[in-house]
Amino acid sequence: MFSGASNFVQGVDTAFVFILGVSFFFLIGLSILMLYFVWRYNEKRNPVATQIEGNNTLEVIWTIIPTILVLLMFWYGYKGWRPMMSPPPDAMEVDAIARMWSWNFEYENGKSSITLKLPVDKPVKLNLISVDVLHSLYIPAFRVKQDMVPGKENSFMWFIPQRTGVYDLYCTEYCGLRHSYMYTDVEIMTQEDFDAWYNDTTGVLMATDTAAGEDLMLAMMGKQILESKGCIACHSLDGSAIVGPSFLGIYGSDHIVITDGKERTINVDDEYIRRSIYDPNYDLVKGYRAGQMLSYEKELNDEDIDKIIAFLKTLK
Ligand code: CUA
Repeated sequence: MFSGASNFVQGVDTAFVFILGVSFFFLIGLSILMLYFVWRYNEKRNPVATQIEGNNTLEVIWTIIPTILVLLMFWYGYKGWRPMMSPPPDAMEVDAIARMWSWNFEYENGKSSITLKLPVDKPVKLNLISVDVLHSLYIPAFRVKQDMVPGKENSFMWFIPQRTGVYDLYCTEYCGLRHSYMYTDVEIMTQEDFDAWYNDTTGVLMATDTAAGEDLMLAMMGKQILESKGCIACHSLDGSAIVGPSFLGIYGSDHIVITDGKERTINVDDEYIRRSIYDPNYDLVKGYRAGQMLSYEKELNDEDIDKIIAFLKTLK
């Protein structure tokens, strides 16, 4: 509490502590009073009950005091919330993209990451984008939380991280089977460390002149795409069936699929993979439900898919 990990900690915690304090005061005060009355007015001490009717002073007091208290609660809450709605114009913008069931953060220079990396003491504005269902982005240490509604424009949250370190970030709106896997880190770095990461666009530069080296590089980039687009939330790499078929050994294997209501056997080749990414429900692998995957046509191009294929080939 009051750790100051972000600029909103104090406002939120003040409202919280005030409400908690008032609640405790009345819980303890009323409990003590109740016990006292049980003792003071039991039948032995007070054999004849007195009937009391109407007391204007008392009525006025127990109306005015709680009214003041709830207005104060509102005031503290409003004061903590209001600045969250006005991001400074110079805030660094990052697209926070949620999908079933992963996070991806895309920066202005095209860099993307599955953890949220930010420099300390710089205001940041997260543009909240959900590509499928309702999610909610929550960073408890920063006291920020906002629903992510698919199709809703200009949805955002902003804050200033004030301490370096690693913090939790997770989805706090139940969004299906693997909701609890929507869990990642916020890494707050010094400006120098952040710049070093941000400006490093070499990625997985390990190109060699040999064909094998190039394949390996493609495969590594393919793996990054699968991670950043959340594919492996539903397609395991170890052979277990989650929401979709596992990627392990998938390339070159035969599968029974349902196309237009008819069963047929296909071989998983480049063409099949491409079609399955662009039009996932065209061929439905037997045993899996339709409509679980949306088309990635807007998010992946043929080159990306070549990289994915290169990676799938390595999963023997
Ligand atoms: Cu996304 Cu829960």
